[in-house]
Amino acid sequence: MKEVVLSGIRSTGNLHLGNYFGALSKFVRMQNDYDCLFFIADLHALTTHPDPKSLHGNVKDIIAEYLAAGLDPEKATIFVQSDVPEIPELYLLLNMHVGIGELMRTASFKDKARKALGIKSDNDNDDIEKEIIGTDSNKRVNAGLLTYPTLMAVDILIQKAHKVPVGKDQEQHLELTRRFARRFNSFYGVDLFPEPTNFDFGGAPVKVPGLDGSGKMGKSEGNCIYLADEEKVLRKKVMRAVTDEGPQAPNSPMAQPVQNLFTLLELTSTPDVVKHFTDAYADCSIRYGDLKKQLAEDILKITLPIRERYLEIRDNDEYIARVVKQGAERARERAAKTLAEVRDVMGIKRFW
Ligand code: TYM
Repeated sequence: MKEVVLSGIRSTGNLHLGNYFGALSKFVRMQNDYDCLFFIADLHALTTHPDPKSLHGNVKDIIAEYLAAGLDPEKATIFVQSDVPEIPELYLLLNMHVGIGELMRTASFKDKARKALGIKSDNDNDDIEKEIIGTDSNKRVNAGLLTYPTLMAVDILIQKAHKVPVGKDQEQHLELTRRFARRFNSFYGVDLFPEPTNFDFGGAPVKVPGLDGSGKMGKSEGNCIYLADEEKVLRKKVMRAVTDEGPQAPNSPMAQPVQNLFTLLELTSTPDVVKHFTDAYADCSIRYGDLKKQLAEDILKITLPIRERYLEIRDNDEYIARVVKQGAERARERAAKTLAEVRDVMGIKRFW
């Protein structure tokens, strides 16, 4: 039997290179060899983007981008999280075994709670718990943000997934998922949930940097290159990427913003191109303009074909509907089986 692979992306806008290299490109490579399920996490999107005007369109965009990037609905199950009502039910049940302390200590929760409360510091020691409890209702941190990791664990556990291809930023959530699975299994003395691990074809999980010299590429950071960017827009973004004044002496260490450009080059270009610019940096002959031109060229080789197919598929409502209807049926069938097992194990039995 093939191992089960599951992963998802929140529907909070178009996909960027971080989503592509951290997740989607791996989905496409894995679909031939594993029993794969890939979904759109629209319920998770509600924790930060509860906007009825854009939610449905955002879901559609990501389905179209999945398909445009090469996901094949005959090989992988492609579905929308909210089409599987078994997920919210298991979410309620699993929450009975999850501690609010462990949820509050999650890095992504602290980060999003700070954002919701308008607190700038990302000092891990600040007393965010006190801020949350003391806050007034205009600036609340919604409970869905707190229980986000339970919902993510349920996405994974309800399909009994073994492998979960995600970027580095999601590893803490995966660690919690393993902990919840272990805890459930041992509390009820069963072997119901496998403990899932990240997957990266033997490499380390990636963190794709932004173009602004800062840390990771992210929608809320405003530093993204999108798969759907027009050629001109994309070139402009790359040419405007932050650098420094250039190496002042042979073999100088690289500043973070320059290192970021090399990370992107390693992801998108061939090894000889990377070597050419690494050597040029080392002997101080590098021209950042040339590096950026090459980088834009190599990114476009990946994104433009996806963009073209995306624009076509996005207008094909009938095709999209067919894909996700079939996906929902398959995902629900499996989820219902797991949920029935869980209810049974927990002692929730019908009298009729
Ligand atoms: P989301 O929507 O934030 O991101 C989707 C995927 O993209 C990866 N990613 C990155 N990888 C590398 N570098 C970056 N700069 C970068 N930015 C984003 C993320 O690691 C992720 O793999 N909680 C998840 C969605 C989710 C999920 C799940 C994933 C819900 N349930 C179950 C797997 C299994 C999330 O917020 O991803």
